[in-house]
Amino acid sequence: TNKTFTMIKPDAVKDGNSGSIIQMIEAAGFRIVALKKTQISQQQAGQFYAVHEERPFYEALCKYMSSGPIIPMILEKENAVADFRKLIGATNPANAEDGTIRKLFAKSMEANAIHGSDSDENATIEGSFFFSGTEQY
Ligand code: GTP
Ligand code: MG
Repeated sequence: TNKTFTMIKPDAVKDGNSGSIIQMIEAAGFRIVALKKTQISQQQAGQFYAVHEERPFYEALCKYMSSGPIIPMILEKENAVADFRKLIGATNPANAEDGTIRKLFAKSMEANAIHGSDSDENATIEGSFFFSGTEQY
């Protein structure tokens, strides 16, 4: 599809960087299909990140992702998944390229400001985790 899913993570929301991040997303040519501010429980974070269940950082990640408000969004653009991963940069901000969202706003490997779906299939699954059909325009 031409859609991807993203969330501004608790560190970036707390720091007041949501506006700047949304501005970068729109400037890069993504159209916002759905957007809200919400907070999830550690258990809901566990469901969202179920693919990482076996990873050593799973519990810390779920605690962190439920530690404060987040801003999930569905975005539309040609080649959305790959282009968005490029815009956010590497998982570890130390390796993120200049001009990427993580280079500018991420604090650490865990508190790395933003999420981006890694495939069309996961974009659909992750988008429907947060938004119903009538919330997508
Ligand atoms: P997402 O867009 O958030 O999915 O990031 P990613 O695809 O670049 O990375 P990945 O899916 O491998 O990991 C998911 C999230 O787990 C990362 O964004 C980090 O917040 C966290 N994470 C990944 N690796 C580590 C790690 O080694 N230690 C810790 N504490 N957190 C990690
Ligand atoms: Mg990922």
